Amino acid sequence: MVIDLRSDTVTRPSPAMREAMARAEVGDDGWGEDPTVNRLEQMAAERMGKEAACFVASGTMGNLSALLAHCVRGQEVILGDESHIVHYEAGGSSALGGLVWHLVPTLSDGTLPLDAIEGAIRPLADWYAQAGLICLENTHNRCGGVIVPVDYFAQVAELAARRRLPVHLDGARLFNAAVATGQPVTAWTRHVSSVQFCLSKGLSAPVGSLVAGQKDYVARVRRARRMLGGGMRQVGVIAAAGIVALTEMVDRLAEDHVNARLLAGGLAALPGVQLDLATVQTNIVVFTLAPGIDSTEFSAHAKREGVLIVDMGGGRLRAVTHFGISADDCRRAVEVCGRAVATCAARSA
Ligand SMILES: Cc1ncc(COP(=O)(O)O)c(C=O)c1O
Repeated sequence: MVIDLRSDTVTRPSPAMREAMARAEVGDDGWGEDPTVNRLEQMAAERMGKEAACFVASGTMGNLSALLAHCVRGQEVILGDESHIVHYEAGGSSALGGLVWHLVPTLSDGTLPLDAIEGAIRPLADWYAQAGLICLENTHNRCGGVIVPVDYFAQVAELAARRRLPVHLDGARLFNAAVATGQPVTAWTRHVSSVQFCLSKGLSAPVGSLVAGQKDYVARVRRARRMLGGGMRQVGVIAAAGIVALTEMVDRLAEDHVNARLLAGGLAALPGVQLDLATVQTNIVVFTLAPGIDSTEFSAHAKREGVLIVDMGGGRLRAVTHFGISADDCRRAVEVCGRAVATCAARSA
């Protein structure tokens, strides 16, 4: 059996999801007539503490629609240089929306320095592109799934209000932050204008994300979604899985967090593995290898023994726990990684 730790996106729909999908009531969502989609969007808006929500095909489409609905062509979006939007969304908001990315450094705790955000907002002048949006991410993927604290969000919200800018949250894994800290998702979302969260990561639905915000804003998101070709029809068949995800799969994320700590503890104890356990706050484990040990060779060795890990580049490796991964899988993965690192170290000696 393969132990797939590449991402929580590899999760398969649960039996309850398949059952709900088969039984879903549907209608034409293009006309707002799919009752299952409408129910999911209402549930999502309530959970996020916002007026409305729009169901989209993916986290990438959610972030892109969200950015297009906030800004006009030529405006600047203030983004962390380690953000998912910058690294893994094919440059969509720039290529398709004409938005200008103003990158600021991402600190290892997933925050962007407040003075860097403030410094990225250019004065009003004919020759300066004007800021239209600040983006945050929580949990922070490339920082190892760390939880960006609520009080930091409050500080950014204060800055944004003072500079009259909206804040968008890429909350693909916001429920992981909520479950890990025992705080409701609204602790964070009350400080942002819009939020995107994914149903298809740890929550295990096969498809889908939602963008939530004020009613008139969500109407603009819906228009952007349509423009991107993401308007859907009898899509209650997938929204039904999303409803199961929101009602049955949130609390169990705690299990993924326990397993991530188990995995991280085992990996950190291996000679040749470098891992800061303080960064393991949710379901993502990022680590490096001692100098001279090749990460590509390491992950290839692990793969041959049935353990899939992502090589993030720059020597960083990532393992993610999820619905399909048990504590035993984590123990077995540590054994395999132990053999892989020992073999690679012997070769490099
Ligand atoms: C933080 C973050 N945002 C957005 C996304 C995009 O989601 P999708 O793969 O559904 O487009 C991901 C996917 O892993 C993510 O980790």
